[in-house]
Amino acid sequence: MNIKNIISIVLALLIPTACSGQTKQKKDMETTGKALVVFFSHAGDNYSVGNIEVGNTKIVADYISEIIGADQFEIVTHKYDGMAYTPLIKLAQQEADNGELPEYEGDVDLSQYDTVFIGGPVWWGTYPQVMFTFFKNHAADLEGKTVIPFTTHEGSGLASCVEDVKAAFPGAKVQKGFSIYGHEVRTGKSKVEKWLKNL
Ligand SMILES: Cc1cc2nc3c(=O)[nH]c(=O)nc-3n(C[C@H](O)[C@H](O)[C@H](O)COP(=O)(O)O)c2cc1C
Repeated sequence: MNIKNIISIVLALLIPTACSGQTKQKKDMETTGKALVVFFSHAGDNYSVGNIEVGNTKIVADYISEIIGADQFEIVTHKYDGMAYTPLIKLAQQEADNGELPEYEGDVDLSQYDTVFIGGPVWWGTYPQVMFTFFKNHAADLEGKTVIPFTTHEGSGLASCVEDVKAAFPGAKVQKGFSIYGHEVRTGKSKVEKWLKNL
């Protein structure tokens, strides 16, 4: 076999592999379109992980942005700054019982996004009330868009978060959710990667 033939065979083997890689990448982009991660996350004293500088859900939001190139909007309130875990759970329960809607800082224009990931910790069986303030403000903004809920938690999984997102955005195409233990996120990037690959 001469050198020309060998080169032809090597090229024939390489080209389909390169093309299928491109097709897969393109397919991922088509599936997701322009994506945004909306999340709330509480740094500070927390269950199981102690006093953390970066909240568990923020770590997952950062993985998503890094892996698929999504923008972010963080729902920020300073209402819980510096609170120890026990008073925080009491306050959170009170807010949930009373259906309070705490304010958050700034806002985001959702019209430019096709896919919106929504993530937060489970607090008393659903997302923190401040996320419901965001849902109320944007109730009409996710019509026909793909919405992908996720949670971090310490035993409740998705709790009622997916149902609550569906109720908040009846016109949205709400997908199956993803949940991960809060104490696992720092070593759990591969789980997030696997989930995103299978969307
Ligand atoms: C106020 C409060 C309520 C919580 N309620 C629940 C719960 O109902 N179920 C659960 O599995 N975990 C619960 N947790 C644990 C958090 O969901 C978990 O630690 C989460 O990863 C925190 O994420 P973050 O650091 O992004 O805020 C609660 C934590 C707090 C602070």
